[in-house]
Amino acid sequence: MRLDKFLCKSTDLDREAANAAILSHSVTVNGATATDSAMQVHENNAICLNGQRLCPRPSRYIMLHKPTDTLCSNVDGAYPSLFHLFDIERACDLHIVGRLDADTTGLVLLTDDGRWSFNIISPQYQCEKVYRVQLRDPLSSEATKAIAAKFAAGIQLQGETALTLPAKLLQVNEKEVLLTLIEGKFHQVKRMFAAVGNRVIALHRAQIGAVTLDVSVGKWRDLSRAEIDSFIG
Ligand code: URA
Repeated sequence: MRLDKFLCKSTDLDREAANAAILSHSVTVNGATATDSAMQVHENNAICLNGQRLCPRPSRYIMLHKPTDTLCSNVDGAYPSLFHLFDIERACDLHIVGRLDADTTGLVLLTDDGRWSFNIISPQYQCEKVYRVQLRDPLSSEATKAIAAKFAAGIQLQGETALTLPAKLLQVNEKEVLLTLIEGKFHQVKRMFAAVGNRVIALHRAQIGAVTLDVSVGKWRDLSRAEIDSFIG
């Protein structure tokens, strides 16, 4: 990771203060004075601040129940940022693993471990994300079967060069379905239903891989070791 990030992970310094410490020659890496905040370092390197060896805090892994009208962003916009709603220590070190639209509710994972989040986001790992979808137009079971076959084969979304990856559709009732995706294109669920002539009127992410949302709206919790490890390998 970058040297300035390592300093943030192992001290109370924020990014700006970490850069200032590096520029004032207070930081050494394996005995040599560091001058470049972007220098790549490893946790096994001997990194010292004012002569004191630093040890990074363990990575964090959090599930959070996103309310509607909140932004998966570090800054406020048309709606408040998620980060302002949750009392999570050093929230600025965390990133969101797969964003949701402002009007989508449900499971959001947060971490400061970039490799772990890559396993979840990258389609190559085929990590399933399950969405509960409320539709404008009711679907008969025949119509659902026809749409399920299209989604399983992959459909062409406007502005995309490749077909969507195979997705699974399960009917809950006339106006509600569960859709399981292994990728996360922009507004994907809404665009998939628009492509088959329907409209999503409410969207909720219930599950990512083996992790199921089990905290109430607006609450968060740390993931268990088993949940964290379920995305590794
Ligand atoms: N697909 C969407 O259309 N919106 C989301 O928030 C997530 C998936």
